[in-house]
Amino acid sequence: SAAARRAPDQPPTGDEDGPDLFQDEWFRDPHPTYARLRAECPVRQVRSPGGHEAWIVLGYAEAREALADGRISKDVRAAGHIFARSGRRRDLAPAVSQTMLATDPPDHTRLRGLARAAFTPAAVHRLRPRIRAIAEGLAESMAAEAGPVDLVERFALPLPVTVICELLAVPEADRAALGAWSSRLFLAGQPEVIDEASHQLADYLSELVERRRRQPGDDLLSELIAARDAGDRLSEGELVSLAALLLIAGHETTTNLLGTAVLSLLTHPEQLAWLRADLARLPAAVEELLRHDGPVNVATFRFTTEPVRLAGVDLPADAVVMVSLGAADRDPSRFPEPDRLDLRRRSAGHLAFGHGIHYCLGAPLARAEAEIGLGVLLRRFPGLRLAGPPEEVGWRRSRLMRGPESLFVLTRA
Ligand code: HEM
Repeated sequence: SAAARRAPDQPPTGDEDGPDLFQDEWFRDPHPTYARLRAECPVRQVRSPGGHEAWIVLGYAEAREALADGRISKDVRAAGHIFARSGRRRDLAPAVSQTMLATDPPDHTRLRGLARAAFTPAAVHRLRPRIRAIAEGLAESMAAEAGPVDLVERFALPLPVTVICELLAVPEADRAALGAWSSRLFLAGQPEVIDEASHQLADYLSELVERRRRQPGDDLLSELIAARDAGDRLSEGELVSLAALLLIAGHETTTNLLGTAVLSLLTHPEQLAWLRADLARLPAAVEELLRHDGPVNVATFRFTTEPVRLAGVDLPADAVVMVSLGAADRDPSRFPEPDRLDLRRRSAGHLAFGHGIHYCLGAPLARAEAEIGLGVLLRRFPGLRLAGPPEEVGWRRSRLMRGPESLFVLTRA
């Protein structure tokens, strides 16, 4: 509870707790570390991955406050000098640096406005039959395997990737390369690899835009090109960046949600039985699975543009702020017995999709994919079970995303 927390004007320094973040044990299960750090102080200094001054926000109320504070910026251009100071200047291609996720208003408002129409609940509703057909096709191909099959490779990854690639009309032959660049962008701690992948992705998407411009279709990319060419409301770099953001979001997030969700359900048989008894419970179940172990677990990075007093703690200007959505969603002062997966609980208000002006634009799509995907799996495979002990599941070693690298299951009873 808040009373047990350390006096907020005396935040602990990074030295005490630096070793606990981003270690083997943390990748496997970060929640015990979060719980300990949050109980001491919900906003605290840590050593950031790049070695510069950073603050991590672990409490629910504190995370909401940070995400809504206009003085805490997402603008990577404004943050360039912070990286320069730490000697880790990065040279990212426009593909990842001119997105709505990396800008503040007014640019953010304009960029988000242009993409919004594609992701409204009504627009996503029209995609549902196609999402279901893709999911059923993937489940069918898994059903052909008598032995263990990797649910991540065969289902959790190809489902959202196919959906987003179809939306953007990426030819089937190019999808494997896109997947490889996208996952390299998420490799922990190798700036050269990240830079190279970002440039390859940018080059590919510039070419794709050129092709669509010559030969428009009725896909989202053609619509965005029309919007750009009509009013010059999107620069060429912004257009390519938007396509990259949507592709990356489409590759790395829902995949992890589906993988973690299936693992959680298969290791909580009584919860799974309750869900199977009435699959109309799926939408609520997805919210609890997002709260309990969402994909954007540790950090959504931000930067203070001026000194900010956050939940009673003074952050200096130019500080890197990591808001841990995964920690916030297990704050016992907001969700009682937070470590317990309880599909019946009221999980609304969780922060798995963020909060404030950067709240996930793709949330309606992600929810539809998770709901439909899990529904197809549970219907098609009444005896679905893990092929090995859950402790042996390998987790992604990413500071941005949490999810199983692979998940071997048996589809036959
Ligand atoms: C932003 C989570 C799926 C598109 C965000 C943010 C979070 C998030 C936490 C805000 C980050 C921040 O404030 O720093 C998730 C989760 C997903 C998911 C957990 C799946 C379970 C998707 C999908 C798409 C998408 C499928 C689209 C294809 C976006 C976009 C933004 C965003 C465009 C930037 C919004 C802005 O800056 O205004 N997402 N996302 N997301 N997401 Fe998602």
